[in-house]
Amino acid sequence: MNASGAVAAAVVPAAGRGERLGPGAPKALRELGGVPLLVHAVRALARSRAVGLVVVAAPADGVAEVVALLDSHGLDGKDIRVVAGGATRQESVRLGLAAIPEEVEVVLVHDAARPLVPVEVVDTVAAAVRAGAQAVVPAVPLADTVKRVEPNPGGPEPVLDTPERATLRAVQTPQGFDRATLVEVHAKALTEEGAGTADAPPVTDDAGLVERYGGRVVVVPGHEEAFKVTRPLDLVLAEAVLARRRATDAY
Ligand code: CTP
Ligand code: MG
Repeated sequence: MNASGAVAAAVVPAAGRGERLGPGAPKALRELGGVPLLVHAVRALARSRAVGLVVVAAPADGVAEVVALLDSHGLDGKDIRVVAGGATRQESVRLGLAAIPEEVEVVLVHDAARPLVPVEVVDTVAAAVRAGAQAVVPAVPLADTVKRVEPNPGGPEPVLDTPERATLRAVQTPQGFDRATLVEVHAKALTEEGAGTADAPPVTDDAGLVERYGGRVVVVPGHEEAFKVTRPLDLVLAEAVLARRRATDAY
């Protein structure tokens, strides 16, 4: 690959178990149209001319399997590396980041669980970082009204308030970052956790870490097909989207 500063590198956290998807292989290795989710996700990134290197954070006990899998799906033409992921998504991203060469200035982080992200979204995010944004997230407006509640699992939950829907966005990946910023916020979060001083609620995306430490995050348009495969119904939807693509494009 061309590891010059102009080309982005992507980290793909793929070390999760996929508990909400139900029993079976780790989620990233579950198949969609006969091809593992992870392979779809890596292909989607590799299709972007903005991306020169992809680092996959695989389940710690599955690194060799993931290397073999990526090779067997003809992805050995691009620079693709595999590292062992961690116990949390945040840790997996941090370990992936550590494998990116120093000179790379733009880093994308993309969930293996978002196999169908269109290349336009990847390009848009990378371009916004290259144009000077510190952190960029693709997002879509919400269909449902959202209420904030006092959590009481299984029982009635008192409603606290209803944020105005027009101001809310559901965020997706790839999220894009100035590399130095992303490395810095991950290091800070690790230090705080190690010192037991992390009192904020857990952050569920990388841009959230940038926000926590006072950085500036902007939203660009995402795409409905960049949804995350989380529950069994999402796989049904993903199969349908893929079947439609295969029928209409040379996919
Ligand atoms: N991830 C990871 N390392 C972890 C946990 C999650 O790399 N220790 C990755 C997942 O593989 C996935 C992405 O982070 O690509 C988004 O996480 P999520 O959708 O929550 O996947 P899982 O954690 O696998 O699913 P679940 O929470 O249902 O167990
Ligand atoms: Mg998870």
